[in-house]
Amino acid sequence: MVSTPWLKRGTYRSGVSWPRWGWSLPSTLPARHHDRKRPALLHQRLRSPDSQLEARDLHKSYNIGRRTLEVLRGVSVQIERGEFLALRGASGAGKSTLLHLLGGLDTPNQGEIFSGGTNLSKLPNLALSRWRNQKVGFIFQAYHLLPELDALENVCLPARMARIEVDTAVARGRELLKRVGLADRMDHKPFELSGGEQQRVAIARALINSPELLLADEPTGNLDSHTGEGIIELLCSLRTEHQTTLVIATHDAKVATRAPRVLELADGVVCSGANASPA
Ligand SMILES: Nc1ncnc2c1ncn2[C@@H]1O[C@H](COP(=O)(O)OP(=O)(O)OP(=O)(O)O)[C@@H](O)[C@H]1O
Ligand SMILES: [Mg+2]
Repeated sequence: MVSTPWLKRGTYRSGVSWPRWGWSLPSTLPARHHDRKRPALLHQRLRSPDSQLEARDLHKSYNIGRRTLEVLRGVSVQIERGEFLALRGASGAGKSTLLHLLGGLDTPNQGEIFSGGTNLSKLPNLALSRWRNQKVGFIFQAYHLLPELDALENVCLPARMARIEVDTAVARGRELLKRVGLADRMDHKPFELSGGEQQRVAIARALINSPELLLADEPTGNLDSHTGEGIIELLCSLRTEHQTTLVIATHDAKVATRAPRVLELADGVVCSGANASPA
């Protein structure tokens, strides 16, 4: 029996309403009428159907007052299905910025990103949200757990947004929290968890919908080496078992050595690792 009424009622236990878009996803998306208007887009979609992600000439800058900060200045990378790519570079090199673009959480000023041949920048917002929810798991550097929800509720949230049945979502959430070593912290709110425990909740949340693409921003940054190794083992085993594509931004040399390919960012460009290594 599920003891989490918030999952059924559509409200947080504190009474806060669910994000409306969480419940309003239609079972069929609106027709992508713009495809008809853009034969060139269709052509592009057929060009790289096998790659998981392909970024072409990405530029991203921020305006700070009258100053423009150019973070990415023409980054291109192709990531194959089931690949494990480590993203490295000095602090401020643009690793998180690139991960956010690859996960459709932010948009480039210039350049395009294709997923399975689909141009993400051409997707309507609803379709992009659905792509993120169903295909992508994102482990944020700053976790971004919802403070009103306990660990299990945070983990289950993306599953409920994907309309996975409550009992299934909760069972899966419990299993994932056990796998990240938090069996005895499921009912703790984020403020009742240590930084490393919050990070592990965020990891479990990213895995709940069995994403085909996992984008992880410093997933072991707040963990002791033993726990961090366990997390990397878990992610690597998901890759082996389910062909999950892993892209991990990390300063941890041990994590990077596990990756067959390392993409190095410096001065806003890729300085090594742009080309896929043979499988
Ligand atoms: N929203 C923003 N507005 C202005 N500048 C930003 C914004 N987001 C990031 N930056 C700047 O962009 C640069 C790259 O940031 P990013 O977070 O991608 O670096 P990073 O490589 O992930 O660094 P770290 O290893 O410290 O996590 C930084 O200099 C940062 O100050
Ligand atoms: Mg970062």
